[in-house]
Amino acid sequence: MVLEKPVTKGHARLETNTLLMAVVILITVSIGGLVEIVPLFTIDSTIEQVDGVRPYTPLELAGRRIYIREGCYNCHSQMVRPFRDEVERYGHYSIAAESMFDHPFQWGSKRTGPDLARVGGKYSNDWHVAHLIDPRSVVPESIMPPYAFLAERELGYRDIADHLWANSAVGVPYTEEMIAAAYEDLLAQADAEADWSGLEERYGDNVVTGDFDGDPERLTEMDALVAYLQVLGTMVNFSEYSVEDLRQ
Ligand code: HEC
Repeated sequence: MVLEKPVTKGHARLETNTLLMAVVILITVSIGGLVEIVPLFTIDSTIEQVDGVRPYTPLELAGRRIYIREGCYNCHSQMVRPFRDEVERYGHYSIAAESMFDHPFQWGSKRTGPDLARVGGKYSNDWHVAHLIDPRSVVPESIMPPYAFLAERELGYRDIADHLWANSAVGVPYTEEMIAAAYEDLLAQADAEADWSGLEERYGDNVVTGDFDGDPERLTEMDALVAYLQVLGTMVNFSEYSVEDLRQ
């Protein structure tokens, strides 16, 4: 059917006048934008705080930096999506609060290897060390590259307090006390015989402590990386929440 007359005269003018069209588009898009953005100014945070989520300990933070330096995110994601196959394989789907203190976040976009968002506690420290030194010694079909040098390299941690400070500057709630104690907390966490009371007072009692790399004499990059892997996905105790709680 061919329309003999334009539907409305005004509309014809709008469609044939570029400038008018641009102005009207701008107004329409602005209204849409305002409706989305304005409500965000009325709430303190777009992410709800969930019990158990805490800033990384200094040792975990050091390990996280090695994870980023080595580009583990190129092959591993850290986000369990809310699909049945993922939840059955990896555990509860990831919630926003679990990565609220990650700067930058490690959600990743590619899975050559499995998702690591909930790998904490899945394997022993010894398994991680053996796997990182030679992945094929524990998973014969693995195509993951070896990272044996991490067990040889001393961990650089003299500037750890600065890293905590930098994270606090972008909103991670590290207190002045945590920053001041960063150095001793890092050493205590990796020492199987240390007094962990200060560390636990500051970060809670679910901090995994001990010698991570199997060599108590040295503090290596392997210690820090394994400490980081062991905390992933362990902060929130999902058995305490019902599905309805999480949907709110
Ligand atoms: C080239 C891709 C690639 C890179 C880079 C890589 N991985 Fe992997 N990773 C894999 C693959 C494939 C697997 C599965 C086979 C296996 O377990 O070795 C895997 C498995 C793992 C597992 C066991 C996960 C599970 O649930 O069984 C851990 C832990 C892990 N990688 C940690 C790391 C860390 C830490 C780094 C960085 C230092 C890293 N990977 C870098 C490919 C990679």
